[in-house]
Amino acid sequence: MGEGGKRIGIVGYGYIGKYVYEQITSRPELGLEVAFVYNRSSEKTAALPAGIFLEKLEDFASSGAELIVELAHPDITLKHGMAFLQKTDYMPLSLTALADAQVEKRLIDTAGQHGTRLYIPHGAVVGTDALEEGRGIWEEVRMVMKKPPRTLDFSASPQWRFEEIRQETVLYQGPTRGICPLFPRNVNSHAAVALGGIGFDRTQSVLIADPALEVSVIEIQMRGQGVEVKVQRSNPMKGVSGVFTLVSTLASICRAKCQRGGMQLC
Ligand SMILES: NC(=O)c1ccc[n+]([C@@H]2O[C@H](COP(=O)([O-])OP(=O)(O)OC[C@H]3O[C@@H](n4cnc5c(N)ncnc54)[C@H](O)[C@@H]3O)[C@@H](O)[C@H]2O)c1
Repeated sequence: MGEGGKRIGIVGYGYIGKYVYEQITSRPELGLEVAFVYNRSSEKTAALPAGIFLEKLEDFASSGAELIVELAHPDITLKHGMAFLQKTDYMPLSLTALADAQVEKRLIDTAGQHGTRLYIPHGAVVGTDALEEGRGIWEEVRMVMKKPPRTLDFSASPQWRFEEIRQETVLYQGPTRGICPLFPRNVNSHAAVALGGIGFDRTQSVLIADPALEVSVIEIQMRGQGVEVKVQRSNPMKGVSGVFTLVSTLASICRAKCQRGGMQLC
């Protein structure tokens, strides 16, 4: 670990959490250090250095974390998001938790009252800068996501059985707010588009399962006042997450907390 770097608390030590931990601890030039790692089950974290694993997430404040990054499950935000923001900055990756309007408002209000910051990582979405900058312009924002059915978690949508999906099938079409509770672990990028742009009710989402696909494909369209932006991105999948999400998550943490000289996109 580096000395004197910004202290990052990592919640969730799976595909993305392990990558973030390894990058922070092996690249002192990032100017970051790990304040703690928390994971629901402790066997995955058994090889971590003593003192890094946090037994109870309620004890996060004693770690001196300057940013807590959630890389586990939307439940973490529901249970601990407000407590985190009363003390420190917070970056949830499982953004579908914010599709509950009360949760979104409470988190933003708590950050405002305590002078902390709620960071929304763009994840695998490309173009959130344009979404945000054009908020006052966009009359329509639409996101179409196509995924191989094996990468979708159907546990909140038992009306679908992935082994029965043999051809391209539209699983959802409508406002982004409605898709988040149906596929909470798969549509975080829809939530990022809604949060970045014109909100969960005005953003339109389409989710398509396609057994012929090997990658996850997203298409985002923003339109208004004669301006039109179209983005298409394809991303190989590992479990519920795409490969590009690894590098983009680390980059979001660095943009939030790295203090380096040199060039910075803005
Ligand atoms: N914002 C985005 O664009 C984006 C992209 C990809 C993934 N995600 C989300 O990020 C999260 C992590 O993704 P991943 O691919 O690393 O998942 P993963 O399944 O590989 O790892 C999740 C880890 O969190 C732990 N965990 C799960 N529920 C927990 C809980 N309630 N409390 C504590 N620990 C818990 C698991 O034991 C596991 O180690 C997922 O919720 C995923 O939906 C967001």
